Amino acid sequence: MPARLIHRPSGRVARPIAVGGVIAGVVLATLAGSGAATAAPDGPGPRYAPGADGAGDPYFPLAGNGGYDVQHYDLDLDYTLPAPAPAPLEGQLTGVATIDLIATADLDRFNLDLRGLTVSSVVVDGKSMAFAHEGDELVVSPRPKLKAGQAASVVVSYGGTTTRPVDIEGELYGWVTTRDGAMVVSEPDGSSTWFPVSDHPTDKATYTFEITVPEGSVAVANGLLEGSETADGKTTWRWNAPDLMAAYLATATVGNFRLQQYTAPNGTPIIDAIDVTRQPNQYANLARTAEMLTLFEGLYGDYPFVSYGAIVDNDSVGYALETQTRSFFSGSAGLGTVAHELAHQWMGNQVSPGRWADIWLNEGWATYSEWLWTEHNGGLTAQARFDAVMTSASQAPWNTVLADPGPTGLFGTPVYTRGAALLHALRVKIGDDAFFDVAKEWVARFSGGTATTADFIALSEEISRQDLTSFFDVWAYQPPKPTSW
Ligand code: ARG
Ligand code: ZN
Repeated sequence: MPARLIHRPSGRVARPIAVGGVIAGVVLATLAGSGAATAAPDGPGPRYAPGADGAGDPYFPLAGNGGYDVQHYDLDLDYTLPAPAPAPLEGQLTGVATIDLIATADLDRFNLDLRGLTVSSVVVDGKSMAFAHEGDELVVSPRPKLKAGQAASVVVSYGGTTTRPVDIEGELYGWVTTRDGAMVVSEPDGSSTWFPVSDHPTDKATYTFEITVPEGSVAVANGLLEGSETADGKTTWRWNAPDLMAAYLATATVGNFRLQQYTAPNGTPIIDAIDVTRQPNQYANLARTAEMLTLFEGLYGDYPFVSYGAIVDNDSVGYALETQTRSFFSGSAGLGTVAHELAHQWMGNQVSPGRWADIWLNEGWATYSEWLWTEHNGGLTAQARFDAVMTSASQAPWNTVLADPGPTGLFGTPVYTRGAALLHALRVKIGDDAFFDVAKEWVARFSGGTATTADFIALSEEISRQDLTSFFDVWAYQPPKPTSW
């Protein structure tokens, strides 16, 4: 792992502390491995080396980068929609990304992830820099070199033709061009299809967006709408997302949307974007959002972000995504899915997976939250849903190692179903009080950062005061259907 993956099992994600240009050594010493540059603790001065080309995630080795920690992305995008059919589904994207970062190592070069778009210039702290674009890695050589602890502003000008990218399983993701704009949903590593990024959840940052589209189109991003200005047939939409966010949760979806805004009982501003072609029955379930917010705040703690809302698009990537503060729905928003994506705001967004292998912590919790909502809403109980999984003819959940589903198994049924069943079994084993204390402490302790399966086990043992080794062994690490735990 590179120096940037500063994730301590005992607590929040911590930034390395620069001491006289040298990073305090304790944390770094435990994170050897993928070639990240580190400063010699007692050396005479900076020891420059290249930052790692990945964040050290075995599922996606080139996702994210090492040697720095992004603080903020300011994305200034200009998008031209595809021409009407039968013209190809291709748009034109021009971007200026201003990336504020802090070096966590002495760097003579560092990487950003960028796929399928062309870079025209890279400026670091006001000066043009040499760069190379090798595959999906943009390699920047800053001069002067960056010292550990040093802040830098990196401005990348880029652009190109947008298409319809697919993930490792062949599913649409990233900047997906549509006839009326684009659906932008990037889990797990699709952000690099629309901006230069350190594309791994361990490098969260804040975001601002200025998205210019043809007049009449609406660009919807995360956070709060700061305003929009129209001139010369184009409208610029300005969004501000001040909460730390993993790159896969960023969006800049463009379409023919009607914005509907209201305030939830807890004071959270809600901004929904409904495609103008949608019929009321395709978005009626969004009206239950406030009720769900109340339920989940009771279970997991205060809603963590500045705003919430949904995007219901006419086009489909075939799934929904919990884009931070603005969940995305393909075509229509089913009631269970509305609950699922909202629950992800705590479970997945406020606390994100430390490695993609930990995806069950997102999907298990979101699915279990769906069960809890259904019970709360007068439907089947969580116990009945658990029983149904355990007695179902489907063997799918029992052929998988939950805590290591593989890069092509991230969004398979087993992760969702077995993950939810694990949580219910844990609840029964340690009791409601301990279980819901674990849930609340999980989001409180790891808020704004990431956590792993090992962290979850440790927290469950800490709060329940039980040895849960064999419980997690049969539920998370062995494929067969658990029979006793
Ligand atoms: N996290 C999303 C959900 O369960 C699913 C994302 C699927 N992503 C993908 N690339 N297939 O709500
Ligand atoms: Zn989910």
